[in-house]
Amino acid sequence: MSNIKVELTKSPKPKPVDESKLTFGDVFTDHMLIVDYDEGQGWHDARIVPYGPLSLDPAAMCLHYGQEVFEGMKAYRADDGRVLLFRPQENFKRLNLSNDRLCIPPVDEEFMLECLEKFVSIDADWIPKAPDTSLYLRPFIIAVDPHLGVRAANHYLFMVIASPVGPYYPEGLDPVKIYVETKYVRAVKGGTGFTKTAGNYSSSLKAQYEAKEKNYTQVLWLDGVERKYIEEVGTMNVFFKIDGEIITPSLDGSILGGITRKSAIELMRGWGMKVTERRLSIDELAKAYDDGKLEEAFGTGTAAVISPIGHLNWGDTKIMNINNGEIGPVSQRLYDELTGIQWGKVEDKYGWTVTV
Ligand code: COI
Repeated sequence: MSNIKVELTKSPKPKPVDESKLTFGDVFTDHMLIVDYDEGQGWHDARIVPYGPLSLDPAAMCLHYGQEVFEGMKAYRADDGRVLLFRPQENFKRLNLSNDRLCIPPVDEEFMLECLEKFVSIDADWIPKAPDTSLYLRPFIIAVDPHLGVRAANHYLFMVIASPVGPYYPEGLDPVKIYVETKYVRAVKGGTGFTKTAGNYSSSLKAQYEAKEKNYTQVLWLDGVERKYIEEVGTMNVFFKIDGEIITPSLDGSILGGITRKSAIELMRGWGMKVTERRLSIDELAKAYDDGKLEEAFGTGTAAVISPIGHLNWGDTKIMNINNGEIGPVSQRLYDELTGIQWGKVEDKYGWTVTV
């Protein structure tokens, strides 16, 4: 084990009493992980310290130009007491993809995973045990140089915080209502859509707010040029079952490459289903709906897990009620298999889980 300093809290916080009422991202554990980066020294001084506020210079570059990246992953408590992570290597691989696009120095993926595992083992008592709960882990990197010129920073913090969570959407496994966004765009090819960086999310807020006003859970983004091709929901990738075939937008640079997306594709192909990654226009989807061929729709994400889509509104004129607003068989099977693997209840044939 490499040198990771540990300072345990002297005042542990009370843990959530009723785990069945856990929401998403409101409660934080006793500790946090910090690793510094300084030009010339690289990443150094990994330490686990009591959770608390950061002291940042008001000129810290992340506060002005958004040089920030993050990840989302979960730790699960199996019935036999084991603590499991799901494909964590994929998160660190993706973190480095985001780093590269945001001009942040790469991390040593193996070392950061080792730090994260140590952090999870220290706060393992915070992993909830109630059904459909887990410990959400949020690794992130911020640029901290006090400087107002626009350039890449020379000093960064890599951190991980953790939050015991329940379902991301209050609907849980009940299908969500999605508004097809035609006024705003999320990303364009050549931009940062494929990365996990704060700006992708802050720029989505206005559309999300306007959709909420109309009683929709989230928006479905279309491509930023033609406003025609389906991209993603922002908190999840999307899949449609059309005439027996599963179709999901291909990753062409403006869509986040979800780890749950990748796992869902591998599972469905393993079940012998036809899964196609390609461009899918909203007109094609609407036509499939009119022809009675749109059988199911769902989203995938670490936070969202598998989230059935029961209702799509395109332009306030085209309303698609999918599978009578109920969860479909593919979504249910995927949810059962994926969460079964994640919670250690189903055999992990793919070797996806890592025991901490
Ligand atoms: C995740 O699924 O982990 C995400 O990062 C999506 C969202 C909570 C921002």
